This record gives sequence, C-alpha cells and structure tokens, in this order.
Amino acid sequence: LMSSSSDHSLAQPATFTAPASGLRGTVSVPGDKSISHRALMFSALAVGRSRVEGLLEGEDVLATAAALRAMGARIERDAEGVWHIDGVGVGGLLQPETALDMGNSGTSTRLLMGLLASHDLTATFVGDASLSKRPMGRVIDPLSLMGAEFTSSPGGRLPLTMRGIVPAVPIEYRLPVASAQVKSAVLLAGLNTPGITRVIEPEATRDHSERMLKGFGADISVEIDADGARIISIRGEAELKPQHIVVPGDPSSAAFPLVAALIVPGSDVTITGIGMNETRTGLIKLLQAMGGNIELLNQRDAGGEPVADIRVRASTLHGIENDPAEVPSMVDEFPIAFIAAALAKGRSVFRGLEELRVKESDRIAVMAAGLRKIGAMVEEADDGLIIDGTGGEPLEGGGPIETHLDHRIAMSFAVAGLASYQGVTIDDMRPVATSFPGFLDLLRNLGGAQ
Ligand code: S3P
Repeated sequence: LMSSSSDHSLAQPATFTAPASGLRGTVSVPGDKSISHRALMFSALAVGRSRVEGLLEGEDVLATAAALRAMGARIERDAEGVWHIDGVGVGGLLQPETALDMGNSGTSTRLLMGLLASHDLTATFVGDASLSKRPMGRVIDPLSLMGAEFTSSPGGRLPLTMRGIVPAVPIEYRLPVASAQVKSAVLLAGLNTPGITRVIEPEATRDHSERMLKGFGADISVEIDADGARIISIRGEAELKPQHIVVPGDPSSAAFPLVAALIVPGSDVTITGIGMNETRTGLIKLLQAMGGNIELLNQRDAGGEPVADIRVRASTLHGIENDPAEVPSMVDEFPIAFIAAALAKGRSVFRGLEELRVKESDRIAVMAAGLRKIGAMVEEADDGLIIDGTGGEPLEGGGPIETHLDHRIAMSFAVAGLASYQGVTIDDMRPVATSFPGFLDLLRNLGGAQ
C-alpha cells in the first residue's frame, strides 16, 4: 500500500499537443538496447578489457551492469556512452551477495538466467511490478534440461531463485515461441557447457547474440535446415577475447520520431546512425508499404551491424494488413505502428501478436484501451487489433493514458498527442527512462514537445 501510494505521487504526467508547424531537424537516438545488454554481458565474460561506445545508459542496461558488477566484473563509465569492462572469463562470475534487481528489464533477467545457469552459484532475481508478471517458464524449461534448478513464484514468475550447475548438460532445443531472449539464454548457458549446445528457431528472431558472440571469438555457427529453420550451434567451454564495440542507434527508439514525422503535417526529419539489421526493420517496411515517405541514406557497416540514416517526411498513410511472419522483426514496434494505423486512411488488421500480451504490459489490451480513450476506432482480437484510421485527420485526444510501467506505451501515446485536437495526457512518463533517456528533449528539439 505504501509503495503504491508513493509511486502514485511520484508519477510524472505530461500532455503532448499538436505543434504549430511540422517537426524538423536531424537527431540521433540512444544506443540499441539489445546490443547494449549483450555488449556488457559478453565483455564481462571475456579475458581482459573491452570498450563499448554508444552504450544505452537506460535503466534496463544499467540493471545488467549492476548485476554483472555484483558478480565480479569491473564495469566503468569513461564518458557519455563510453564504458570499459574488465571481464572475468567464461565461468568466472562469482556468487552475488544479494538478490539481483532486474528492475523493468525482461532482457536482463532472461539472458542473465541463461548466463548463470552454467555457473556454480545461486542467484535470486527480483523486479518491478511489470516484470514480476512476466513469464519466465520459457527460460526455466530449457535451462532445467541443462541441469539448473529453479524455485519460482507461482506461474513461473519473479521473484525466483536459480541454482546453476557445473558442468551443465548441452542440449538441442527447438524454440516453442519466437523469442530472441529464450534463444540467447540457451546460447549463453552453452558458453560454459562442454560440447555443443544447439538452438533451433523455426522463425528468425533478432540475431545480435550470434553476431556478437562470433565477434568475441566463440565457436558458433548458423545453418538453415530444409524447412527454413535456423540451427544455431555453440561450442563450450568457450574463450572470449575482449572487443571494442560500437553500438548503433536503436531502431526501436527511432520508431517514435519516425512515426511522429510521418503523421505531423509538414514534417521532415532525419534520424542518424540507426541499426538496420534485417531482423529489426519490420516497422520501416510496414510503414513504407502504408505509403510512408522513408529514405535510407548513407548505408554502412558499424561493428558487425548494418547502419543507416533515415529521412522521413510527412505522408498520407493508408491502412494495411500485417504479415504474421514479419512479427519478430518489429515485435517491439506494434504500439507505435498502431498509432500510425489510427491516422491512416482505411482499415488496418494486425494479427499474430499473441506475444504482445506478455511484454512490459499487455500491449494489445493497453493500446486498445488508450486508443479508444483518444477517439480512435479499435477492435481487439485475441492475437491483434483492427483499427479504422482517421485518414489523416487528427485524433480527438484526451486521457489520461494508463502506461502500466511500459515505456513504449508512454512514448506511443506521446506521439499520438502530436497529431490530436486536444492533446494526449499520459499518466506517467518515468518508464521512458528504461530505454530512451532524452526522449522529451528529442521531441522538443524537433519542435514537438509541450
Ligand atoms: C529482446 C527480444 C525481444 C524484445 C525485447 C528485447 C532481446 O523479446 O521484445 O525488447 O534483446 O533479445 P522476446 O525474446 O521476448 O521476443
């Protein structure tokens, strides 16, 4: 009771209204969240000092850093986004003295559970109210097959305690759900497991772990089988060599100014240095297919990942039906895609989104409720949303939108406010700090905030 009432008084509500003219300017966004977590984790397991530039200094990544420090890695910040890490070697993490606080971060939790499953230690994972509702059975299952032991809260949730095992047993695991976190958890457990650990993924998910582990010198290979499934094999016990990593801008963060520029009339915005890994570019393809004027400029390679600048101009969008096979390549971008659909001409049908119900919030239900509140026409299905757009006319607006500790809900409705008659009020903007510190400044620089 105490904490819920004090949480309430600390909440940072804000109202976002339509700017007098279009959004304009050139901006960058913080480093990729997925790549930042992995850069810290793999560096912590290398022998020697790694350097990371462009690290996302959001709460989720800082939770990973704190946990790794609590287990013996030395992690220090040299300048903004520039960090160095002295690793302990694969298998060298030490028993943490207190529970590992994962905050709001599913990626920290699931990847570290994997990493620690093949260490001789016991770790307790705790998190905030949002994270404590999310399913961990999907990592407990394969890691148990490898020999780790778990005591979890009902429903396979946090808080949970894991007892790792050395040596762990290598497994071949076919992913029952398209999840890069589950894939990565098994591969990371495989790092300190003798022999070959194999993950089969019927649907491709983001492959940052595979790319970066190869860069660190792990013996990892990817094959495609006759059915098109990816078979990823890693040989333990691995030895990782320290690296210098440059983290590209997060396409999942770029998504917000990108859609804002499309739906605010008169906008012309360039977002520089964004990761273009094709397991992450589903939103750009979808918006282009909706008629969005989006150009990729200056395409280049940075540290094993493709990168580009994105120029976006205000566009007349039309409704679309998504391809469920493309869901993993834009799994975090549906909330903001729904906002684009709410301003498009005609009906959009989004299906195959059952995973959205177990993100930081139930993003199908929370988006449907919020969209209705601001005057959009929405129908909720078990696995998606059907949205009848305004055809470019602003939304009515209103609020307050309930964000349920979900950063992407907060940012999506902030963007919706920029294309509304009355403005949109968000109950609490604090969750944005998990992935996108500087979001409000960025909107302000483009001429879009408050
Ligand atoms: C992530 C994988 C995705 C994504 C999350 C980050 C990762 O989760 O939603 O934000 O870094 O591996 P799932 O594996 O649950 O799909």
